[in-house]
Amino acid sequence: MLYAALPDRVRLMEVGPRDGLQNEKVVVDTRAKVAFLADLVDAGLQRIEATAFVNPRWIPPLADHAEVARATQLPPLRGRARFAALTPNVKGYEGARAAGLDEVAIFLAASESHNRKNVNATSAEALARYAEVAARAAADGMPVRGYVSCAMGCPYEGDVPVAAVVDVAQRLVEMGCYEISIGDTIGAGNPRQTVQLVRALKGVVPLDRIALHLHDTRGTALANIAVALDEGVRSFDSAAGGLGGCPYAPGASGNVATEDLVSMLHGMGIATGVDLHRLARASLRLEGILGRPVPSRVVAALRTSLTAPPADLLSPATPESP
Ligand code: HMG
Ligand code: MG
Repeated sequence: MLYAALPDRVRLMEVGPRDGLQNEKVVVDTRAKVAFLADLVDAGLQRIEATAFVNPRWIPPLADHAEVARATQLPPLRGRARFAALTPNVKGYEGARAAGLDEVAIFLAASESHNRKNVNATSAEALARYAEVAARAAADGMPVRGYVSCAMGCPYEGDVPVAAVVDVAQRLVEMGCYEISIGDTIGAGNPRQTVQLVRALKGVVPLDRIALHLHDTRGTALANIAVALDEGVRSFDSAAGGLGGCPYAPGASGNVATEDLVSMLHGMGIATGVDLHRLARASLRLEGILGRPVPSRVVAALRTSLTAPPADLLSPATPESP
């Protein structure tokens, strides 16, 4: 294991501004969100989910989605990364398109109960909405990414059959999604399950179009990513600082931290294009706003060195003696 041909590079989707902030008690103001996006771009992230065009009554922390999305099309952000947003229906899609976003994402759970709780629809109704979004996006030439949520367990139904995950993934591929992100929404998966799932998915989704979106509730996300790399997966979602969680998935905690993922990958000789120290500084700035430490292990390890005053302040230059 892990001696298969490892890639030189993988693709990341940074979901911190969306998944990371959607479940926070503190509502981060729009200017701070835009500054966070700028920090992420400066750290080298090339694909960023900036917000979600969802009902603000369902997700109050992202109620400013239109302002944030418009800001991605202005300096200092415009053209420096691909910016995406979740769009659960045509209303959301039209908002994202009007704001000038580069791509949109649709999201469907492999569990009926989670769809009812999360998007107020049966799976069949949600599929019909997404088919409409995908058709409009195709007509506009807008790339669509698809999520399969609850792929490794559902907070309401427990175990989720692999066949149900494969079925949703196949439908999203048929709708034209350029990449299918397999979500362990509640962080319940283990490496064995990850291998089984990826092998089953390969039958309906080309391997280079599979991504993993792993919440790290039980500390298994990096182990799952390591075995997925071995299986040939080359695209991973993560959130700066390890923030995140779906408000309609009780018990879910943050995404795998981008810092932790990048640190592991760089250590394995796999490039990401991300400057780890810059990214950790971005998460530390966010900590100041959220008023609590972010969950990332690597940020914790770097905290002292990155927040220490610069050396020249610690030891003021003593006047040279004649
Ligand atoms: P609904 O309340 O059933 O919608 O919500 P509706 O069509 O009945 O409309 C009700 C009101 O919502 C209307 O406003 C609409 O205009 C408005 P009113 O006339 O009452 O003032 N509305 C909207 N407003 C803004 N943007 C929209 C929109 N659509 C309707 N797009 C809906 C249905 C799907 C919109 C709602 O259930 C919703 O917003 N759900 C989103 C929940 C969510 O964002 N969950 C977290 C993201 S998913 C996740 O985290 C998992 C993931 O990370 C992967 C993983 O971890 O596995 C992706
Ligand atoms: Mg998520």
